[in-house]
Amino acid sequence: MSSLAEKYPDEVKAILAKYPPEHKRSAVMPLLYLAQRDGGGYITKAAMEDVAQIVGISVSDVAAVVGFYSLYHDKPAGKYRIQVCTDVACALRGADKFVEELCDNLGIKIGETTPDGLVTVEEVKCLAACNHAPVFQVQTPDGLTYHQDMDIKATLELIEQWRKEAK
Ligand code: FES
Repeated sequence: MSSLAEKYPDEVKAILAKYPPEHKRSAVMPLLYLAQRDGGGYITKAAMEDVAQIVGISVSDVAAVVGFYSLYHDKPAGKYRIQVCTDVACALRGADKFVEELCDNLGIKIGETTPDGLVTVEEVKCLAACNHAPVFQVQTPDGLTYHQDMDIKATLELIEQWRKEAK
């Protein structure tokens, strides 16, 4: 597999140019974004090694960044990655029950993907909309959308819409 610098020399150069050479480790996040885009929605171990090598930090430091942020992934998922906040404030407003019911309706467990590869359901920490639970963000190859004050019916309708669009 070729490296990011070989595949996207101009983008890598442009990213690194934003930081002083002695602080090139700060480029880790945009480089991970590039690696994730290249990987079709997740970052392989080889890509983490590549990013680590480019910015001069350890692979475990890169993996720690990937693990910390809910917008980076180290595993493939469905086309739509639904990330439901189940942090304390949202849990008090029923987010736990919501995510369980959602998974039951989809016939999957938290962290799993529907057999048609359309939807993955994950739990995440605070999405900064605590008084609007149930709240979730949806990641797709095209970007990120937020949905708040949701219920099961509205969420299943949304998924049904995606299913139709996927056909
Ligand atoms: S605790 Fe869920 S959005 Fe803040």
